[in-house]
Amino acid sequence: MKEDPRKLGASEPSAAVRIRRAAVADAAEIARLCAQFGHAALVKDVRARIAVLDAMPSQQLLVAEEPGIRLLGWIQVERRLVLTAGERVEIIGLVVDAAARRHGVGTLLVSAVQQWALAENLGEILVRSNVVRDASHKFYLAGGFSRVKTQHIYAKSLPG
Ligand SMILES: CC(C)(COP(=O)(O)OP(=O)(O)OC[C@H]1O[C@@H](n2cnc3c(N)ncnc32)[C@H](O)[C@@H]1OP(=O)(O)O)[C@@H](O)C(=O)NCCC(=O)NCCS
Repeated sequence: MKEDPRKLGASEPSAAVRIRRAAVADAAEIARLCAQFGHAALVKDVRARIAVLDAMPSQQLLVAEEPGIRLLGWIQVERRLVLTAGERVEIIGLVVDAAARRHGVGTLLVSAVQQWALAENLGEILVRSNVVRDASHKFYLAGGFSRVKTQHIYAKSLPG
């Protein structure tokens, strides 16, 4: 995969777990974790999406791995310009393997995003999390996030 200087590079936050950019070759492992996130996806679709995301400077898709073993989690964030709020980072998705939770992997992924956001002079990270995701609410509050509002999400299916 061609390196994009606007993308977050690999970092080494701990000896055992490495945080790096996702690659198309991670598709099967990312799909496995998508299912745990409650969003099952076909490996071929995930592969195609990773390739598209990698070409978008506004997107960062990072994985946590135990080198040579398996992926422990992934995070997708978007750099978003909001007319009323300016530029900020939004966490679009975050999941840690159920077998690896409570070992700091989620914290490592968010920390990597935070370092990138600071380097890019982005002043805020925002995340929307379903009310049923109990662990995530504890996780974000423990990580220094504040709950700023509660919303309903509306969707409309379009024909075709
Ligand atoms: C939320 C999630 C990403 C957290 O990942 P993780 O690697 O387990 O989190 P960490 O180990 O870094 O946890 C850091 C701190 O958050 C808090 N925390 C995390 N999970 C918690 C839980 N289930 N119950 C209570 N506190 C929790 C704790 O304070 C924890 O520190 P501690 O273990 O020293 O007490 C993980 O539970 C997950 O993938 N959940 C399913 C998907 C999901 O909800 N994603 C978020 C959608 S936006």
